[in-house]
This record gives sequence, C-alpha cells and structure tokens, in this order.
Amino acid sequence: MLNVLVLHGPNLNLLGLREPGIYGSTTLDQINQQLKEDGKTLQAEVTPFQSNHEGELVDAIHQAVDRYQGIVINAGAYTHTSVALRDAIAAVSIPTVEVHLSNIYHREPFRHHSYLAPVVVGQISGFGPESYRLGLQALVSHLQLKATNP
Ligand code: DQA
Repeated sequence: MLNVLVLHGPNLNLLGLREPGIYGSTTLDQINQQLKEDGKTLQAEVTPFQSNHEGELVDAIHQAVDRYQGIVINAGAYTHTSVALRDAIAAVSIPTVEVHLSNIYHREPFRHHSYLAPVVVGQISGFGPESYRLGLQALVSHLQLKATNP
C-alpha cells in the first residue's frame, strides 16, 4: 500500500464558492472524497491537507519524509511566488506531481511561471477536479515504475 499526501494551498478551502466560472462548483471535500475512493482502486492511502499558510505547507512537506512515498500538490497562488515550497520539495526528494484546476497557461501572464515545475515529476493543469485524479494516477504509475526499475 502506498501512502500519498495531497496538499492544497491557499484559497482552495473556498472551492465551490470561489470564482466558479474558473474553478467550478466542486468543493474541496468532494475532491478529497473522490481521491480517497480512487486511492482504493490504486492501492494508495490518500491523506489530504489544506493550508492558507506557506510555512504550514513547508512543514507538511518536511513531515512527509518516511511517511509518504509521493505527494500531489496544488500550491494555488504559491505556485507562482514560493521559492520556499520549491526548496522544500527539492529537499525531501519525495516524488511530487503538481496539479492545477485551471489551465494556468491560458490565464494572466503572472500565472504562467511555476517555481515548482522544475522540481516535480510533472504537471497537470486545466482539467478541473479531474486534474487531481489524473495527478494521483500519474504519481502512482510513476512510483510503481520506480519500484520495478529502481
Ligand atoms: C490554481 C491556479 C493558481 O494560479 C491560483 O492562484 C489558484 C488555483 C488552480 O488550481 O488552477 O489558487 O492553482
């Protein structure tokens, strides 16, 4: 059984209410429930955590060492600002997949740059709540491949 940490950054607690034209009407609880369900089929125990605070997300990444084999992260706006989150991901070297509900490259230029992209396995952006599901699947396949071809 794999243990996967799903991290949600700032303002994602407001999903469902927040700019539904961009982010849709699905709530964070619904996304987390779906990921836990998907985890059963993928043989992965999914643990979600949301914070609006950069340092708490950094702490969660540090505490993931020896507990989680992989991380799925939607860092929200910190994607575009946080060297600290990028350094935390690089420091723990836990395979991480970056996800975004919206396609960040279709939006304002300040969202086109991700500080996380160079230190993650890959990025999935633009599929709404499906981005998280695809991200979890991609992470689990990556971890399985790594286990068979270390
Ligand atoms: C987001 C995209 C970010 O630019 C934005 O700040 C968010 C959500 C997304 O999931 O589409 O908070 O990460």
